[in-house]
Amino acid sequence: MCGIIGYVGSDQVAPILTSGLKNLEYRGYDSAGVALADDVLSIHKREGTIDDLTVPESTATCGIGHTRWSTHGPPTDTNSHPHTDCTGEIAVVHNGIIDNYDALKADLEAAGHEFDSDTDTEVIPHLLEEALERYGLPTAVSRVVDRLEGSFALGVVAAGRDEIVAARNDSPLVVGHADDGAFIASDVTAFVEHTRDVSYLEDGDVAHLDGGDVRVYNDGQRVDRPIQTVDWGADAAEKGGYDHYMLKEIHEQPQALRQAISGRIDAVAGEADLELSLPEQYLASLDEIQIVACGTSYHAGLYAKRLLERHAEVRTTVKIASEYAFSPSRDPWRTLVIAVTQSGETADTLGAMRRASRAGAKTLAVTNTVGSTAAREADDALYIRAGPEIGVAATKTFASQVATLALLSVYVGRTRGTLSSSDASDLLEHLRGLPGAVQQVLDEEPRVRTVATEYADGDAFFFVGRRLGHPVALEGALKLKEISYDHAEGFAAGELKHGPLALVTGETPVFAILTDGTSPDETLNNVKEVESRSAPVVGVSSLERAEKFLDASFSVPELGLLEPLVANVYLQLIAYHVANSKGRAIDKPRNLAKSVTVE
Ligand code: F6R
Repeated sequence: MCGIIGYVGSDQVAPILTSGLKNLEYRGYDSAGVALADDVLSIHKREGTIDDLTVPESTATCGIGHTRWSTHGPPTDTNSHPHTDCTGEIAVVHNGIIDNYDALKADLEAAGHEFDSDTDTEVIPHLLEEALERYGLPTAVSRVVDRLEGSFALGVVAAGRDEIVAARNDSPLVVGHADDGAFIASDVTAFVEHTRDVSYLEDGDVAHLDGGDVRVYNDGQRVDRPIQTVDWGADAAEKGGYDHYMLKEIHEQPQALRQAISGRIDAVAGEADLELSLPEQYLASLDEIQIVACGTSYHAGLYAKRLLERHAEVRTTVKIASEYAFSPSRDPWRTLVIAVTQSGETADTLGAMRRASRAGAKTLAVTNTVGSTAAREADDALYIRAGPEIGVAATKTFASQVATLALLSVYVGRTRGTLSSSDASDLLEHLRGLPGAVQQVLDEEPRVRTVATEYADGDAFFFVGRRLGHPVALEGALKLKEISYDHAEGFAAGELKHGPLALVTGETPVFAILTDGTSPDETLNNVKEVESRSAPVVGVSSLERAEKFLDASFSVPELGLLEPLVANVYLQLIAYHVANSKGRAIDKPRNLAKSVTVE
């Protein structure tokens, strides 16, 4: 979704903004622009990619930039940010939605303000134009923000003022602290090559960046937002020789998994150490766990449900966050709501988490992003430690989410006394084996590419699996459809004969998951059903006897209940190579955004 970058300091701002916008590209956008604040304000913006945007050389040392993902009004030059007031002296970039913009716009138009764009954002510079007649920039922004309803992260500059004012409500915004100045951005990736020292703004904060001096106010009071140092640098956010971030991130999975489990496993004692602050007594007395998530994270939640029910013997439901209504089976305070979210900023997931929290449930955020809204708002946070993921299609973070949730299932199971230390040791040993097993799959990439290319022209692609194979089938289909734009569906294998079988022809490759934890023998019967309708079947399998029924087969190393997770890596590679053979924009698929910050 929209991305914001801003800098004020002693360096020239134009190249900083351009490279910051490049770093934000992965969030998804359809137009981009910058405002350079010198004695006069110069605005450069247009629909299209950042490469299409020409930012002239400038001596300005203060400015803001934006990547726009359209919500109000189509992607056009005029609708691109920054937006300005009637005088052209105030510029604003905005991420989020202003719910009451209609009413504000009507009042402003009645007062003589003229609007250029279809956006909700444009009301803000016009409101600021009035407020600046009476106040300095920080106070003017505070006054205007008080009138806005909805979600927003804002960056504001004005002609002749070497300062940026930023504000946040419900949309992420971080401040970067460098020796020669300060940054604002939607996420740390935007400026990490300049500084790793960041502070995270909270809802209601208004930050005043006056050169390197940063002051933050909330409700009129000065507040302290501590500076933290991120533990990764610019190279973690680069392609490292791969053609696409997605491929790099697929190959980073062994390392990401090592990070997810590092220091958290005592396989001999059969214990997981997660440093949770949720009291053990509370976990022991839980009635129910509800997992809320979207997209790939939802699939990780479906995987985790089976592990939690099996190891911790606690009823677990998984809800798509945008459909979630909190309805505990018994006491709200005996219901733990787990929000699974890579970014920690997904609006639907935050909304679900907040509804549960208001109703009295405790919340746990399982996230990749330190300092994210989910991590800060939840009662407790569990980090998946995957490192930055730039490709829009989530890959390594799915693996790290499932591994971390598997550890959680051991931790809760041991706490509740429902999991023996020897069963826990088995699972923990499998977790230790996970990075090596994933590496074995990655070593098979040349053969996966051949098979993917062979079937790339299918009319549609189906993925089937049972039990733990079902979320993996859903995830395999999601990956393929989002980056190849081909029709792909995942099904519980047993459901095929209840309808989807009607779609199966000789031109619909079917991918079947046939590993431990997926009732492979039963799925094999479904494989025979589709084969007799002449569909080619590709198996991802740890079942040797399945091979004779498959047109192509990839072997999954033995790893108990984690085999389906390993199988998923084959499906990621299939999706990548199908999409790549068609020349798709793999890291930035059309219409999609990495961080979905609107409901
Ligand atoms: C698909 C994908 C999305 C995200 C979803 C939730 O590849 O990346 O489906 O999984 O938008 O995002 P997070 O996990 O950040 O809440």
